[in-house]
Amino acid sequence: MQNFTLHTTTEVVFGRDIEKNVGPKLKELGASRVLVHFGGGSVKRNGLLDKVEQSLTDAGLSYIELGGVSPNPKLSLVREGIALAEKENVDFILAVGGGSVLDSAKGIGMGVATGRDPWEFASTGTAPDKTLPVASVLTLAASGSETSNSCVLTNEENMEKRGITSQTNRPCVSFLNPENTYTVSKFQTGCGIVDIMMHTLERYLTPGDGSDITDRLAEGLLIAVRDAGRVAIENPCDYEARATLMWAGSVSHNGYTGCGRASTFPVHKLEHELSAFHDEIAHGAGLSVLFPAWALYVMEHDIPRFAQLANRVFGVEMDFVHPERTAREGILTMKRFFAEIGMPVRMEQLGLKPEDYETLANNAVKTVRGPVKSYVPLDEQAIVSIFKLAE
Ligand code: NZQ
Ligand code: ZN
Repeated sequence: MQNFTLHTTTEVVFGRDIEKNVGPKLKELGASRVLVHFGGGSVKRNGLLDKVEQSLTDAGLSYIELGGVSPNPKLSLVREGIALAEKENVDFILAVGGGSVLDSAKGIGMGVATGRDPWEFASTGTAPDKTLPVASVLTLAASGSETSNSCVLTNEENMEKRGITSQTNRPCVSFLNPENTYTVSKFQTGCGIVDIMMHTLERYLTPGDGSDITDRLAEGLLIAVRDAGRVAIENPCDYEARATLMWAGSVSHNGYTGCGRASTFPVHKLEHELSAFHDEIAHGAGLSVLFPAWALYVMEHDIPRFAQLANRVFGVEMDFVHPERTAREGILTMKRFFAEIGMPVRMEQLGLKPEDYETLANNAVKTVRGPVKSYVPLDEQAIVSIFKLAE
C-alpha cells in the first residue's frame, strides 16, 4: 500500500425529507445572504427549488437566484455569477442540481474569495487556496462533485474543458435525498452509472503497488452500482436503488476508493476533450465509449489486474492458463453492460468521425502538456489508436 492522505471535509446529510434542514444548517454555518445556483429548470419543474428556498426563508436567510447552468458548465456564467455575488454581498453559495451546477458554484466561490478569474487556475494548473463556502442539494448521482476536490469548467472562447483541483473545492455540506433523482431521465441515469463506475475504475486500473482492502472496497462498489443501476433504469422511483447510486457517487470520487494506489485518470482526460469538442456530448456517454477501447489498448501491461476485475466484478471464470482471455472477456462484458443500460459504445454514436480523431488527440496532449499518463504514456498516435478501437 502506498502512502496516502485522505481528508474528505464535506458533511453529508442523507435521506428523505432533508430539504427542510438546508436553511438551519446554512445558518449554523454562518450564512446570511445566499446565492442559489441551478441549471436549466429541472429543479423548478419538480418543485425542489421551492422547497429549498422555503427552508432558507424559514431560517431567516435572504437569497438571490442565478439559474441557467448548462451541462459542461461554462466559464461565462461563472464570471456572471462572480459579478452578481460581489454586487449583492453574497456570503454563501448553494448549488441545487447536478455536477454542472456544483462545478459552476465552485467556480463562483473561488472567484469571489480569491479575486482571480477561475480560468487563471484552470489554464495554469494552479489551485485556489480559498473559497466562499459552497453547499449543495444534489439532484443527479454521477459526478461526485458533491464531495470531490474537483471543479471542471468549459471556456467557450476556445472550447477548452479543464479541471481545477483543490481541497478548497470540497463543498462544506451536501444534502443527498435519493428521491430528488427520481425525475432523472434513463439516459442521464445511465451516464451517472458509467461516471460513478469510472471514478473507481480509474483508481483501480493503475500501475504500481496497491492494497487488498482498497481493491475489495472498489469491487464492492462496482458490483453495487452495476446491480442498483439495472434496477434504477427499470424503475426510476426505486428508493433503495437510487440511494445506492447516490451514495456510491460520493464515495467513488471523494478519494476513498483510491487510498494507497496511484491514480492518473487517463480515460477522463480523453473524455474531457470529447465533450469540449462537441458540447452536446454528456460526460458519462463519452466515458462509456472510451473506457472499453482504452482498456483493450492497455490491458497487456497489467493482465492480472484486468483479469481480477473481470473475475471478481463481472463473474468471468478465471482462465489461469490464458488470463488475457479473462481480462479481455471482462472488458467486453462491461461494454455489453454499458450498451444494456442504453449508453453509447462507439464513436459515431457521439457524432464523432475519423477525421476528428487527430484534432481530439492533439487537444488531449496539449491540455496535459505532454503524453497522457497511463500504464504507458499515451501520445497522439496512441490516442488515435484508442479512438479507432472505439469505432
Ligand atoms: O439543467 P437541468 O434542467 O437541471 O437538467 C440537468 C441536465 O440537463 C439534468 N438533471 C439533473 N438533475 C435532474 C435532471 N433532470 C431531471 N431531474 C433531475 N433531478 O441532467 C442533465 C445533466 O446534468 P449535469 O449536471 O450536467 O450532469 P452531471 O451531474 O453528470 O455533471 C456533469 C459535469 O460534471 C463534470 C463533467 O465533466 C460534466 O461537466 N465532472 C465533474 C467532476 C467533479 N467536479 O468532481 C468529476 C467528473 O468526473 C466530471 O468530469
Ligand atoms: Zn467523471
